[in-house]
Amino acid sequence: MTSNETINVIMSRRSVRAYKPDPIPKDILTAILESGQAAPYVSPDSRYFSVIQDRGMISRLSEAAKAEGMKLGDFQREMFSAPGFDGTYGAPVVIVLSGNESTIQHEAVCAASIQNMLIAAKSLGVASCWAYFPIFAFHGAEAEAWQKELQIPDGYKPCAAVLLGYSAEAPSVESAARYRNTVAYFGAGETAAR
Ligand SMILES: Cc1cc2nc3c(=O)[nH]c(=O)nc-3n(C[C@H](O)[C@H](O)[C@H](O)COP(=O)(O)O)c2cc1C
Repeated sequence: MTSNETINVIMSRRSVRAYKPDPIPKDILTAILESGQAAPYVSPDSRYFSVIQDRGMISRLSEAAKAEGMKLGDFQREMFSAPGFDGTYGAPVVIVLSGNESTIQHEAVCAASIQNMLIAAKSLGVASCWAYFPIFAFHGAEAEAWQKELQIPDGYKPCAAVLLGYSAEAPSVESAARYRNTVAYFGAGETAAR
């Protein structure tokens, strides 16, 4: 496979689920955020970024998400009720992406921004995890209050979050399974090498 610096960054990115409390320097966080803003969009106002670095706010958001998530079913209840469970894994930065609901593909727009931020973070030595978990906080009775607190404009729906920080865990081992049986080639293409 052809490789270069960008492809190496993409291929080596893995979700991190334990973070040091150390903050991310401002210029690095700005580069990650602006990489998210540089992603493809339907219109410039089709997504909105809420950048949370307030430890207390992240804890409250995580607890609210846990409480709502546990209502979803046995699987979530079992996972989230484990002692000390924190679905934001101690990350010092949580960015919530909200999509403008007047844009039909607002969730796709948010996804594009999230992925850019994950790659940018990896390239800058910052660990990350794409997380739906914090969005559970917007499922319940407190949804409107959270929407206000995170200054998410009316008409925008929280779609996804990215957790950012410095890793406190050993790098995870890549699963080769992700490359198997997921591609069909037509015409002159080669078959998958893996
Ligand atoms: C839409 C979406 C939602 C996700 N939500 C969560 C989440 O709430 N919590 C979590 O720990 N990981 C979450 N992930 C991360 C995936 O579990 C992870 O990307 C996948 O296991 C592959 O591992 P990798 O990122 O290390 O390659 C999510 C990923 C996607 C694409």
